[in-house]
Amino acid sequence: MVSLSVNGKAHDIDVDPDTPLLWVLREQLGLTGTKYGCGIAACGSCTVHVDGEAVRSCAMPVSAMEGKKVVTIEGLAVDGVLHRVQQAWVDLDVPQCGYCQAGMIMAVAALLNATPKPTDAQIDEAITNVCRCGTYPRVRAGIHHAAANA
Ligand code: FES
Ligand code: FES
Repeated sequence: MVSLSVNGKAHDIDVDPDTPLLWVLREQLGLTGTKYGCGIAACGSCTVHVDGEAVRSCAMPVSAMEGKKVVTIEGLAVDGVLHRVQQAWVDLDVPQCGYCQAGMIMAVAALLNATPKPTDAQIDEAITNVCRCGTYPRVRAGIHHAAANA
């Protein structure tokens, strides 16, 4: 049994402790907004927040989440109000197919918590998520837009 907090709710989950967090989120908790891309911590599509830090959940055993607070894309808006990164993504139509974008948004939200006004160089260093649609210019514009709306 593993106890973890996801989007403010406590869960006790009967699962192999080595199961990646991603699969517990998607299969045990039904939170399918977090996507599987590569499974080897390379693409970022599975990014969630763990105690406020961006974490690639495909490579994180659920047992490491004991006592930590996990937030997924489903928990980013508060009381129906979009997070400013989500709002920036709407304002600038950032996504194309959308598959990578939940992870992208979670990574960007964590970046802006740590670095409220990132430079292009800081964005390049922090946001290494892969987007097969090539939305990178709009992602960068969205980050600056969200930073300006802080
Ligand atoms: S699915 Fe986790 S980094 Fe690609
Ligand atoms: S929007 Fe399609 S993979 Fe990024």
